[in-house]
Amino acid sequence: MGLAILIFVTVLLISDAVSIKSHAYVSKTADLPCPFTKAQNISLSELVVFWQDQQKLVLYEHYLGTEKLDSVHAKYLGRTSFDRDNWTLRLHNVQIKDMGSYDCFIQKKPPTGTIILQQTLTELSVTANYSEPEIKLVQNVTRNSGMNLTCMSKQGHPKPTKMYFLITNSTNEYGDDMQISQDNVTELFSASISLSLPFPDGVRSLTVVCVLETESMKISSKSYNLTLPESQPVQKYWLETGASITVLLVVLLLIILVVKIYHKKQDRPSRPSNTTHTLERDSHADRESINLEELEPQIASAKPNAE
Ligand SMILES: *[C@@H]1O[C@H](CO)[C@@H](O)[C@H](O)[C@H]1NC(C)=O
Ligand SMILES: *[C@@H]1O[C@H](CO)[C@@H](O)[C@H](O)[C@H]1NC(C)=O
Ligand SMILES: *[C@@H]1O[C@H](CO)[C@@H](O)[C@H](O)[C@H]1NC(C)=O
Ligand SMILES: *[C@@H]1O[C@H](CO)[C@@H](O)[C@H](O)[C@H]1NC(C)=O
Ligand SMILES: *[C@@H]1O[C@H](CO)[C@@H](O)[C@H](O)[C@H]1NC(C)=O
Ligand SMILES: *[C@@H]1O[C@H](CO)[C@@H](O)[C@H](O)[C@H]1NC(C)=O
Ligand SMILES: *[C@@H]1O[C@H](CO)[C@@H](O)[C@H](O)[C@H]1NC(C)=O
Ligand SMILES: *[C@@H]1O[C@H](CO)[C@@H](O)[C@H](O)[C@H]1NC(C)=O
Repeated sequence: MGLAILIFVTVLLISDAVSIKSHAYVSKTADLPCPFTKAQNISLSELVVFWQDQQKLVLYEHYLGTEKLDSVHAKYLGRTSFDRDNWTLRLHNVQIKDMGSYDCFIQKKPPTGTIILQQTLTELSVTANYSEPEIKLVQNVTRNSGMNLTCMSKQGHPKPTKMYFLITNSTNEYGDDMQISQDNVTELFSASISLSLPFPDGVRSLTVVCVLETESMKISSKSYNLTLPESQPVQKYWLETGASITVLLVVLLLIILVVKIYHKKQDRPSRPSNTTHTLERDSHADRESINLEELEPQIASAKPNAE
């Protein structure tokens, strides 16, 4: 009669097997509860309580009032502690690979065989907060080069879904070349993006923020101020250009002046007093001979003398 009731209760309990969701951060502690609510009057010393992972490896066993380590798998030895007050197993130093489902069984040992009183399934999710994204200048900002930035965030989980830059007053998401890498030991991800944009016209200063998103959260960098250097490149450019133009003009004027003076000398020459002057003139004869012959027949006729 008593056994029949117990079996009935067991079936009832299993039919509405409890399922719990639990979350833990990497390297912190996870709670795997086993709330034994339906038979409060049974003491721990009459029960066998144990936890198994998906591969049926035992994390912990409480056997008729004492801890029993024989069946505990090596990978869980020393990583658990059992809280008797609320029947919770605490799993320490959680890693990404601990993510998954765990079963807690509560069994009663009647004189013969074993009866499962309760089975509790816990879904454990494990996440790691990404480091605050960090913006870095690849190149100093100038009007000519524009902005060249990268942003990086490290050691998170799950995999990022999106990463982008936000720029003052724009709702657009900027950036490209998203790179995701995964540490093959810790299974944590790192992500980076880069941004290369001309500096918008008519603006001297901008604020940029970098954002990383996963399916469940969003983390932003500190805002980064970009300011063009005191409009120096532009001023300097014009100053230099202006200076060169001035120098050029002066040189040009000087050349013109020299040429004019020279021509004036030619236009009203003093009578050829020596042969050197005539010879000098002679070398230009090809170009100016016609004019010169017309204007200065004396010089022209003097040629044969020179030779
Ligand atoms: C627990 O057992 C005691 C007697 O041992 C009984 O008086 C009490 O009503 C029981 N409580 C529950 C919740 O079954
Ligand atoms: C169980 O109790 C411990 C402290 O006594 C507490 O840290 C933990 O959160 C509790 N767990 C549950 C599932 O209530
Ligand atoms: C992760 O980030 C959340 C939200 O910002 C915060 O509440 C939580 O304490 C962080 N966890 C760790 C382990 O830093
Ligand atoms: C930017 O300019 C500063 C000096 O103004 C220099 O020290 C720094 O190395 C430059 N940074 C880059 C990324 O070129
Ligand atoms: C952003 O908008 C504010 C107000 O609308 C304006 O004062 C500011 O100049 C804008 N900044 C840029 C960089 O466009
Ligand atoms: C992780 O990757 C590095 C090189 O990328 C390799 O040398 C190392 O053996 C890998 N470790 C594991 C545990 O796979
Ligand atoms: C800046 O961005 C341009 C693309 O617009 C790229 O070609 C250049 O290499 C970048 N500068 C540096 C220093 O990486
Ligand atoms: C960036 O500029 C804003 C105002 O435009 C200012 O409030 C903020 O302190 C600046 N941040 C840094 C890091 O200079």
